[in-house]
Amino acid sequence: MKRVPMLIDCDPGVDDAIALMVAAQGADLVGITTVNGNVGIDATTHNALAVMEVAGLDVDVHRGAARPLISPTVDARHVHGPTGLGSVEIPQPRRAEASADAVDFICDTARAVSHLHLVAIGPLTNIALALRKDPNLPSHLGGFTIMGGAHRGGNVTASAEFNIWADPEAAAIVFSEMGMLTMVGLDITHQVLMGPAERDRLRAAATPCAVLAADLLDHAVARAGEIRGWSGAPIHDATAVMAVLDPDLFEGDHRPVAIELNGSHTRGMTVIDERPGGLDGRTGSKNNANVLRTVNAEAVVTAITDAVIAVDQQ
Ligand code: RIB
Ligand code: CA
Repeated sequence: MKRVPMLIDCDPGVDDAIALMVAAQGADLVGITTVNGNVGIDATTHNALAVMEVAGLDVDVHRGAARPLISPTVDARHVHGPTGLGSVEIPQPRRAEASADAVDFICDTARAVSHLHLVAIGPLTNIALALRKDPNLPSHLGGFTIMGGAHRGGNVTASAEFNIWADPEAAAIVFSEMGMLTMVGLDITHQVLMGPAERDRLRAAATPCAVLAADLLDHAVARAGEIRGWSGAPIHDATAVMAVLDPDLFEGDHRPVAIELNGSHTRGMTVIDERPGGLDGRTGSKNNANVLRTVNAEAVVTAITDAVIAVDQQ
């Protein structure tokens, strides 16, 4: 089966790192762009290069935005650790970044690669800037999927998910100008938990990627236990990649989704219009997102684990 050409925009990040491995195995990963998010742009770029080195993969990494469009720069070091990869010791990458212009790379690659699927698993700053540079970007993409938002609730605040909250102005541009996107929100990713069983299976596989993923899971499972009392860690970003690689494991429906920018308690919230008229625009708002509602979580967890183990056998 022909592998989907994929470009991942990310902020590695523990779950981003696992997502890169899954994409490297399941897709034709044509490139990686990095953005400020979980940690600063130097660290996210370093981490993306380091993960590709561990995986023994020749995939270029292009540095992107160092800060949000308008919001102050934030991070999630309290979740991902000071380096962004937990307490994992990862070898210094020997390759350098291919460029410091992620936006150009996104726009040029969309025009050059047929049916390219763009997957954004960090704040949407680079994607918004790419839309500003090339308003025709949506017409050159085969698809666009994000890990972001939530049907209700949040993780970084009571009402907002981190990727949207970190740069809500960018998210507003992307949701209003990308045409149609697939939204993999917390309602889905909070069902896709990897825990000790998956960690032990990865460690037993003893491949470079599997051992790195097991070490990352050690950190993520401990943090999920401390923050939420869960026995497994939500693997947000790899779930978004799986929504592209195996869409039959998910179900969603098309809805109008707006980004709240001004609420003192709701800034960064994804406001999903559930009114019946929203399905055909009677509410005056356009359906702009395929909001995923259900997931075969057990199958996704198994597929992520299988993919990580298989990476090094390429
Ligand atoms: O809210 C989860 C998202 O925020 C994930 O992409 C995680 O890596 C962080 O960026
Ligand atoms: Ca991320």
